Amino acid sequence: MDECAGSEYVPSNRRSGAVRPDPCAVIILGASGDLTRRKLVPALAGLGRDGFLPDRFCLLGTGRTRSSSSEFFQTIRAGIALHTEGDAVPPAVTDRLAGCTEYVSANLTDPDDLGRFSRALERLETAQGTGGNRLFYLSLPPSTYPATVSQLVQSGLLTRGAPDRGWHRVVVEKPFGTSLDSARLLNGHLRSFLNENQIFRIDHYLGKDTVQNLLILRFGNVIFEPLWDRRYVDHVQITVAEELGVEGRGAYYEEAGALRDMFQNHLLQLLCLVAMEPPVNFSADAVRDEKTKVLRAIRPWTLPEEVAQNSARGQYGPGTIGDRVVPSYRQERNVSPTSSRETYAACRFLVDNWRWQGVPFYLRSGKRMPGRLSEIFIQFRTVPHMMFKATDRADIGANSMAIRIQPNEGISITFEAKVPGVEFNLRPVRLDFSYQTAFKTPPPSAYQTLLLQALQGDATLFTRRDEAEAQWEIIDPILSAWESTRAPSFPNYDPGSWGPSRADELIQRDGREWHNP
Ligand code: BG6
Repeated sequence: MDECAGSEYVPSNRRSGAVRPDPCAVIILGASGDLTRRKLVPALAGLGRDGFLPDRFCLLGTGRTRSSSSEFFQTIRAGIALHTEGDAVPPAVTDRLAGCTEYVSANLTDPDDLGRFSRALERLETAQGTGGNRLFYLSLPPSTYPATVSQLVQSGLLTRGAPDRGWHRVVVEKPFGTSLDSARLLNGHLRSFLNENQIFRIDHYLGKDTVQNLLILRFGNVIFEPLWDRRYVDHVQITVAEELGVEGRGAYYEEAGALRDMFQNHLLQLLCLVAMEPPVNFSADAVRDEKTKVLRAIRPWTLPEEVAQNSARGQYGPGTIGDRVVPSYRQERNVSPTSSRETYAACRFLVDNWRWQGVPFYLRSGKRMPGRLSEIFIQFRTVPHMMFKATDRADIGANSMAIRIQPNEGISITFEAKVPGVEFNLRPVRLDFSYQTAFKTPPPSAYQTLLLQALQGDATLFTRRDEAEAQWEIIDPILSAWESTRAPSFPNYDPGSWGPSRADELIQRDGREWHNP
């Protein structure tokens, strides 16, 4: 597809109306973990490079690992060089971060450590003149969230509402609970200390440009929305496939599995953005109200036979991907050799409302698939009356739209065209939009976008309390049914394949096929 003339890309720091966040301190709890080095600090460096770090800013990391501030910065300096997406970070930006970053080894449940941590924060804030605004980032095991937040509140470092000396916010990493009950408990706990507008539950999929573009595609254009319902859409497929295995996260994955790790958050969020009604405006609550309505309209699969009929699970065995030999899930570190944890899941959902009645949404996600691919595939219906007799294809006019979240970000639409020649033959052709071709720049990292939004106090791209619980309400019964029935004989799919045969049967029962690009 040709891009419109004159649609020259304007770098984010020159986008009109974009404002730098207020002066503030970012405090990472659990800063010695991988997330800080691989995602958070590179995202802050990316913000610095693009002109979005506040003029007065400081970063305080804390964790149980013993390390000095300079050792900590050496680690994150390497992280900035390796993991910042987009253009390289200029040395001046890295040096600026080095000048306002400290690390305190501390166990915040120990009063002495808490005192040291608190003094370090106040010293750093005074030196950098950040005015008391604080963004706490909980990069910790979820079981420690309640105790940590209550320590911060009791010590006066974190205050409900708008404290006299600036705003206080908390970013909560996923997984947000491990079940509906635990999520409710956690929400209750956070809300006993903080107002909802201080809590930022992160789902990094919402930080992806291509995911946000779903809103623009649907509500910033006039041509798609009239087709976006049961009259024209036959079904929707949402695929998040990864070539990677569990990559050293065996212990976590044994607890989580694909359904908790990917469906409860990322895949259901994608479904919401495809299925939601137009929000009244682009404010955090208006957008989240509409997403929550979709979640509430998803027909819950509660009976074991409904779950069996509408879901499939799998676990990868040993094998090869390309010329690489890869171990089975059960051979991964910290994984039981008899594990029945799923590394692949597929679900069929129905959205019981006027727009989507009878349109199945097929969702699937797995590790060790043929490649990395996140895609939303909209299959439209066939034409109501076929007047072109000179063709032997049954699927004529069944247009489709593939929205590639990653990689090769873009959108393809297929439609029928006449094959050149004297005969009257039709063949599907493709209209392609590529982000890279149109904008000539890679998207920012999801964490860069989300950190900026949190610094600006905009929760549109974060999950609200009721939304998080509604997601669990859909996933919980499936998990319970799976736990109470015998798991299929695992492993049941080969690395590099598109998952277990049961997942094919799930969609084939409806006379449809997975879109495997
Ligand atoms: C995380 C999951 O939330 O998302 C991981 O915990 C998964 O298991 C990752 O690999 C996928 O994210 P992305 O952005 O690479 O698609």
